[in-house]
Amino acid sequence: MCGIVGYVGRKEAAPILLDGIRKLEYRGYDSSGLSVWDGDFSDFKAVGKICELDKKIAGRPIAGRVGIAHTRWATHGRPTEENAHPHLDCSGKIRVVHNGIIENYQALKTSLRDRGHEFISETDTEVIPHLIEEVYDGDIISAVMAVVGMLEGAYGLAIIHADEPDKIVVVKRGSPLILGIGPEEMIVASDAAAVIRYTRDVIYLEDGEIAEIKDSGYRIFDGQARAIEKNIHSIEWDIERAEKSGYPHFMLKEIFEQPRAIEDSIRGRIIAEEGLVKFGGFDAIIDKLREIDRLVIVACGTAYHAGLAGEYMLEEHAGVPAEVEWASEFRYRSPALGPSTAVLAVSQSGETADTLAAVREARARGAFTLGIVNVVGSTIAREVDAGIYNHIGPEISVASTKAFTSQATILALLTVLLGRQRRMTQGAAREILEEIKLLPFKIETILKQSDYIAAIAAKYRDAEHFAYLGRKYNQPTAREGALKLKEISYIHAEGFASGEMKHGPLAMIDEDFPSVFIAPRDSVYEKNLSNMEEIKSRDGRIIAITTEGSNEIEVIADDVIYIPPTLEMLTPILAAVPLQLLAYYIAALNDRDVDKPRNLAKSVTVE
Ligand code: F6R
Repeated sequence: MCGIVGYVGRKEAAPILLDGIRKLEYRGYDSSGLSVWDGDFSDFKAVGKICELDKKIAGRPIAGRVGIAHTRWATHGRPTEENAHPHLDCSGKIRVVHNGIIENYQALKTSLRDRGHEFISETDTEVIPHLIEEVYDGDIISAVMAVVGMLEGAYGLAIIHADEPDKIVVVKRGSPLILGIGPEEMIVASDAAAVIRYTRDVIYLEDGEIAEIKDSGYRIFDGQARAIEKNIHSIEWDIERAEKSGYPHFMLKEIFEQPRAIEDSIRGRIIAEEGLVKFGGFDAIIDKLREIDRLVIVACGTAYHAGLAGEYMLEEHAGVPAEVEWASEFRYRSPALGPSTAVLAVSQSGETADTLAAVREARARGAFTLGIVNVVGSTIAREVDAGIYNHIGPEISVASTKAFTSQATILALLTVLLGRQRRMTQGAAREILEEIKLLPFKIETILKQSDYIAAIAAKYRDAEHFAYLGRKYNQPTAREGALKLKEISYIHAEGFASGEMKHGPLAMIDEDFPSVFIAPRDSVYEKNLSNMEEIKSRDGRIIAITTEGSNEIEVIADDVIYIPPTLEMLTPILAAVPLQLLAYYIAALNDRDVDKPRNLAKSVTVE
C-alpha cells in the first residue's frame, strides 16, 4: 500500500505534492519521491520518512506547476532510492507513480528486456513507463489505455509524458484514486486527506476508469475508451478524519480493511484446482521443507496468538509437530533444536527485538529459519532463510487487527503447503483452500454487524474484569480477544481455555465479572455449552460468539454474536473480528486513546 498525489494547476506544484504525500504517509513511509515539470523534470527521491525527502529538497526550490509524488510501502524490492517512485522509461520522458501490485510484471519485464529495455529498480512498477514508451505515438491517453490492457493486478497510476507536459493521466483498478477539482487546479490522490486542504469537490474514480487532468479541466473515460460524465461529491470530513478515510480511528479503519487484507495475503498463492499453495519466497527452499520434522513458531503478543492457532492447524492437518513460544522466552532458555527443526518467526513489523533475537538464537543453534512478516525489507524479513510477506499494507493503530487475521490465514496456507508434502490429500487441500477464498466475504458479513456489536459494548463498558473463554482453535482467539480489550481499554481481561475454568479461575465469576465465549459450532461446541452453564450458574453474564444457526445458545448467553460457518481450523480468523470490534467500541465509549494506548508502541524494538 502506497500513497500517490498528482497536481496540475496555477500554483507551484512541489509544496502541494509534499503536503499531499505527508497526509498519505500512513499508507507507507519507507521511501518517497516526486517529479515536477518546468521545461524539464526535476526529480527527487529519498529513503525513509517524508522528512528525509524534505531535507533533500530544502534550499533547492522546485519550479513547475505540474507534478506527481509518491510515498512508498515496499512490496517488490527493498526501500532504496532506485526502488522509490516516480519510475522512468529509457528515454527519460515518462514519469509514473503507482499504488498496488502488477502481478504479471516478471513476464512483462523479461520481454521488455529482450526488446532492449534497461531497468534500474527491482519494482513491479518500472515495467509501466517502458510499456508506455513502446506504444506511445503522440497521444499519452491512448498509450496508457493500450498499456493497462497488458497489466494484471491492482493499480492506481499517475503518469506524465514530457511531450504533453500540461496533463497528468491517471488510471484506477483495485487501488483507490480520487480527483479533486479546485477553482484553478486539479489534484489526484489515493485518499481525500491529500486533497481536502485545496478543495472539497471530488470525483471518485471506479475500477477501469482513466482520466486526463489539466489545469483547465478533465476528461474521464471508461474501460472501453468512451468519454463519461461522473458526479462530483462534496467531502464533509475534517482533515483529521480524512486521513483515516472517514473512520474515527485507524484501528476501526484497519478492522474494516480485513476483507481486502486477506485477499491481498492470499492473492496469487492458491492453485485451487490442484490443491496446492505457492509462496514465491519459498521457491528456493521447497525441498528443504519436506525434510522438516518439527516447527517452532516464535512470536510476541498478537502474533504469538496467531502462532497458537497455526500450531493447532499444522498438527491436525499437516501432521507436522509444531509448538509456539514467546520469543522473549525462547531467546534465553537454551532451546534444543535439531538439524531438521525449522524456526518460524511471525511478526507484523519485522522489527520486534525479542522475535529478532529468537531468529538469531535459532540460526546460531543451526536451525533453519522462516518468517511471516508484513513490513517488506524489515530486519527479520532480511535475516530469515526464507519468508512470506503478508502484503496487508501498513498497520498504524498500535493494537494489531488485520495482521492477526492475515497471519492466521497465511498459517492456514502454510498448513496446506506442508500437508501436501506429507499426508494431506488433494481433496482435503482443495476444501481448505476453497474456504480460505471465502474468508473475505464472510468477514464482510461480520463487519455489517458493527452497530449491533457497539450496542453490546455499551451494555458492558463499565465492567472492570472480563474472562475470554474458548477451546481448541479458539483458545488462542480467547487470549487474543482479551489482549485487544486490555491494551486499548485498560480493563482487566484474561483469556483462558474454557476447560481450565473449573481448575481455579471460576472462583472469580459473579454478576460483575462477564465472560466472552468463543463457541462456534465445531468439535468442542457441546463442551463449551457445558462450560457456559457453569458460568451461568454462578450468575456470570455471557457474551457468546457462535456460528449462524446455533440459536439454542440464546437460552444460556445474555448476548449472542453470530459468525458465518466455516471450517473449524479457520474459525479463529472469523471469530477475531467481532472481538476486535467489541474491544474497540468499549475503549472508544470509555474515551480511550484507541490508536495510541498508554505505555505501548507499535514496533517494540527494545527488550
Ligand atoms: C497487540 C500488538 C502486539 C504485537 C507484538 C508483536 O495488539 O500489537 O502484541 O502483536 O508487539 O509485534 P510484531 O508482530 O510487530 O512482531
